Amino acid sequence: MMSKFNHQKYRPHPAIKKQDRRWPSGQITQAPIWCAVDLRDGNQALIEPMSVHQKQRMWALLVKLGFKEIEIGFPSASQEDFDFCRWLIEENQIPDDVTIQVLVQARDELIERSYEALKGAPRAIVHVYNSTSPVQREKVFGLDKSGIIEIARKGALKVKSEAARYPETAFRFQYSPESFSSTETDFAIEVCNAVIDVWQPDQDNKCIINLPATVECAGPNVFADQVETFCDQVNRRDAIIVSLHTHNDRGCAIAAAELGLMAGADRIEGTLMGNGERTGNMDNVTLAMNLYSQGIDPQLDLSNADEIVRIVSECTQIQTHPRHPWLGELVYTAFSGSHQDAIRKCLSQQQDGAIWDVAYLPIDPKDLGRDYQSVIRVNSQSGKGGVAYILEQDYGLQLPRWLQIEASRMVQEHAESTKSEVSSQEIWRLINETFMSRDGGLRLNSYHLDKNAGHEHITARIQTGPEDFEIRGSGEGTLAAFCRALAEHVGKTIEITHYDQHALAEGSDASAVAYVQVKVDGVRYCGIAKDGDVLSANFNAILSCLAQAQSQASNRTEAAPSVA
Ligand code: KIV
Ligand code: ZN
Repeated sequence: MMSKFNHQKYRPHPAIKKQDRRWPSGQITQAPIWCAVDLRDGNQALIEPMSVHQKQRMWALLVKLGFKEIEIGFPSASQEDFDFCRWLIEENQIPDDVTIQVLVQARDELIERSYEALKGAPRAIVHVYNSTSPVQREKVFGLDKSGIIEIARKGALKVKSEAARYPETAFRFQYSPESFSSTETDFAIEVCNAVIDVWQPDQDNKCIINLPATVECAGPNVFADQVETFCDQVNRRDAIIVSLHTHNDRGCAIAAAELGLMAGADRIEGTLMGNGERTGNMDNVTLAMNLYSQGIDPQLDLSNADEIVRIVSECTQIQTHPRHPWLGELVYTAFSGSHQDAIRKCLSQQQDGAIWDVAYLPIDPKDLGRDYQSVIRVNSQSGKGGVAYILEQDYGLQLPRWLQIEASRMVQEHAESTKSEVSSQEIWRLINETFMSRDGGLRLNSYHLDKNAGHEHITARIQTGPEDFEIRGSGEGTLAAFCRALAEHVGKTIEITHYDQHALAEGSDASAVAYVQVKVDGVRYCGIAKDGDVLSANFNAILSCLAQAQSQASNRTEAAPSVA
């Protein structure tokens, strides 16, 4: 079928002719210098910009997570940003190892106002920018290339001369050729060289050159080519920190940042959870977690994921998608039976302190403060592994395989009929109602055993509702003796086909649990019982099977049409 789209409306982004591409074999071996722009780019993109209180919360979170460079706003363009900057400085809110950064257009009066906002700050980065791409030059500013270079050069001069008026502050300068990735790379280098010429950075006093993909218009490989070309050809590479600022229009902001780091960049600007203009900025959390999962210290503390998600949503009024990389509610959850089985097997073999090696889980969810409860959740797609896992984790039951099959069939039927997820509590309720003896059902009161001539003899008292009765019988084993005694009393055949048992952890309401499968008059039933000793648990599990058989028989009788 022909698409209704007119693809001829668009043209491909020009490829970079590069013979000596090295970045594909580059490797990221350490965390970049992080800069958080949540309070500026992130804030500018909100339907309702952050209130003072929300800004303060976001600031506190960014500091807590370990960001050492934080762009706190655009004080020359917004009185609120100006006031927030003053609050940080006057109320001594800036830790000694954190530097605030302000953004400003390359215009004299705005640069002056930005310095006023920063008065008294111990340290600050002044970030000046102007746009350099052809569409901005031709359609927005109506300037040729030399006009654009002149804006950048004059801005750099003003940033430098104003800084001299505030000697109490240790300033660093940053320049962004806005729309760098849509600019001819050689021209972007020319503009940046003009700025570098003014600032005269050296190794002890580096300036930051920030390369934005203001709008992501090409693949991340093209961006990496641009960054590598820039790093190779810009003047005084050893005296500049090359920073990247990618946006996510094509969904590749993270990939572009990573390939850009492989291409030689040192620093990354981004936001928590990728909030920002249009599709957002590069997500600092995702990039940090990508590094972490490769065995690299991200130099950020992301161990309380739920707090990050909560504060970011509260400040931005944007909900986090449940499948958001690394932090979404569902990103470590398996519903599918085969995934659950694989995870369960791997988790049981994962040793403390060993290299993480678990199918379907790229990292240990516990590192982010998540528990394994959220890993395995049960719906109609789930298999026996999931139900078994929940029963073991939450209730200490290690169901034998034959019972896992029965239990998961029952839970799956329930999930299909309710068309919803089945919670751990709901699974426990179903297990109890189906396999465990209920109040008023059959329950062991006491038993006495004798061994004689290789045979076990049992006498037991069984409670049924308000009454009890006695049974007596013999067999080759204790369970066989119990079944025979019971069978004689109720007039049915009772035969054990499977049984299993294990001790329960200390602190649980019983010391042993037993699982039995019993044929009552040829029909199979499964029972589970917990008790103070293994034998009592087994007897009660058998009684539960008998109770199920009796209740089915009475249901059948009630349902049978009466014969006139
Ligand atoms: O996306 C962008 O180009 C920016 C600059 C001002 C750095 O936010
Ligand atoms: Zn931006």
